[in-house]
Parts: sequence; structure tokens; C-alpha cells
Amino acid sequence: MGILKNKDLIGLEKLSKEEIELILNTAKSMKDILKRPIKKVPTLRGKLVVNLFYEPSTRTSSSFSLAAKRLSADGMNLSAKSSSVVKGESLVDTAKTLKALGADAVVIRHGIPGAAKKLGDTIDIPVLNAGDGAHEHPTQGLLDIYTILEERGKVEGQTVAIVGDIKYSRVARSNIWGLKKLGAKVRVVGPSTLMPKEIEKMGVEVYNNLEDGIEGVDVINLLRIQKERQGKSLFPTIREYAKFYGLRKKHLALAKEDMTLMHPGPINRGVEISSDLAYSGQAVIEDQVENGVAIRMALLYLLIGGGSKSE
Ligand code: CP
Repeated sequence: MGILKNKDLIGLEKLSKEEIELILNTAKSMKDILKRPIKKVPTLRGKLVVNLFYEPSTRTSSSFSLAAKRLSADGMNLSAKSSSVVKGESLVDTAKTLKALGADAVVIRHGIPGAAKKLGDTIDIPVLNAGDGAHEHPTQGLLDIYTILEERGKVEGQTVAIVGDIKYSRVARSNIWGLKKLGAKVRVVGPSTLMPKEIEKMGVEVYNNLEDGIEGVDVINLLRIQKERQGKSLFPTIREYAKFYGLRKKHLALAKEDMTLMHPGPINRGVEISSDLAYSGQAVIEDQVENGVAIRMALLYLLIGGGSKSE
């Protein structure tokens, strides 16, 4: 049984290949639990996991709550909008209050890159990053990689095209770090205005044309346009973006015949993906959501149940 080196999960950039494999293997055991008639184990009985969300979420927030429940931990959800944050309380003071209430771990989503790290450096309980600005969304990256492993049997050697708003996507960054560490070939596809400067330094191939970017790939992972993070419009209209970068049925023949189609959600139907493709046979979007619970159970177990060095 391995351990995670850090008490916090901030991003996949700082995890080793072995740590990522440990999380994926642990998630497989958790998925076995989720297939049982009684999908609950007493592993984290008496522990308190707090969800502290400063930005909206459906999938990440609900699956962290469910993961805590399946491991018999108590869960508490705190939305910034309905907390004393609106009265001016700082992130650090909020977290210290939660620690005083007996929290054993804090899951945080925040609009500012580095917020999760700042919190982890301040309090001595595990902090799990549920998305910090355009920096990282490590649990999404891990569940995407787990889904690729499940669907394709391996990650090493697979060619994955990440299509869309790469510049503002924390999902893209976490996927790239994790996939590269596990030996996948990664392409990023999108207009040049949505590409971060020097993205090639992450070891990816850059394509500005959708057709070229998805040719012969094993996996397509589509991203939504992060309108909330773009200060100004980086393409003429959504309709034009959809025309050049929206995936439609006619594109499928360009990728491998058994290509796996992914989307982290939330989906903007008719923009990055046509409605008929979103729930087609090749799409594994619902599997991604299901795998998100197993990945988050694995991380809660490893970080507060005995799998990290600082335990
Ligand atoms: N994929 C993802 O992070 O979705 P939510 O914003 O609904 O959590």
C-alpha cells in the first residue's frame, strides 16, 4: 500500500506517476464498493468533510458529498453566497472556523488560482482542490484519466485530443499533467486566441484546426468555453466558434473508429458538441460522472483515512 507525499491535493503537476497510479488503483477498489447492493463502508466513520464552494458546481460538489457519505463520513456543504464570506470574512478565517468545528478535510472551489494551496499552507488538515481559477481541477483530471483507462485498457501510448478553451481551462491543465506522466500523447486543439502562451512546453502538440487535431486520435475530450473567465471576447461569435470547433457527427470518421468521446461538463449543447453526439454510443460523459465518485472516495480515503505521510 503506497502513500501520498503531501497532506493536500492541489494539482496533478506535483503528483508523481506512482502517486497517480495509487489513486487510480484505489479508485478501482472504491468502484467495486459502488457496485455492491449496499454501497457504503465504515472507513471514515466519525470524520467530517467540508465542501467550501466559492463558485457554482453540480458534479464536483455533489460527488464529493456522495463520496463522503459512501465512506460513512459526515459531510457539510458551505456555499460562499450563504456564509459569512458575504460579510467580508476571509478564506483563511473561514477555514480556521471550519477546523475549530472539527473538520477533518476541506474541499475547496475558488475562482482565484492558488486559493487551494494558500488554504493548505494555512491549516493542518488535508485540503482538496475542487478547481482554482484556470490553474487546476485535479479530481476532474483524475476521473478523466480513470475513464480513459477503463474504456481503453491503458493510458500509455493513447492519443488524446483536448478541444476548446485551453487558455482558461483548469480541466485541460490537470489532464495534460496527468496524461503526460502516464505516457499518453496529448494534442490541444482550438483557436490561437484560446491557447495559453508556450503551451508546447507542457509537451503537447498544438492544432488550430479541428479536423487536423482529431485525425486518428483515440480520445476526444471537449471543453466548454469558460465565458466567466474571459475578460473580453476571444472569437467573433459563439455561432462562429461552433461552426469551426463544435464537434458534429461528420467529424467522427476522422478519429479512430472506436474513439472515446468525453466531456467534463457542464455541456453547452450546440456549441462545443452537437446534441446527438452528447449521448451517442461513443460518449462516456455519464461514466465520467460515476467515476468521479470513486476517484473522490479514493482521495478522501488516502488523505484522511490513512494513506498520506502526514496522517
Ligand atoms: N466538471 C465540473 O467541474 O463540473 P461542475 O462545475 O458541475 O462541478
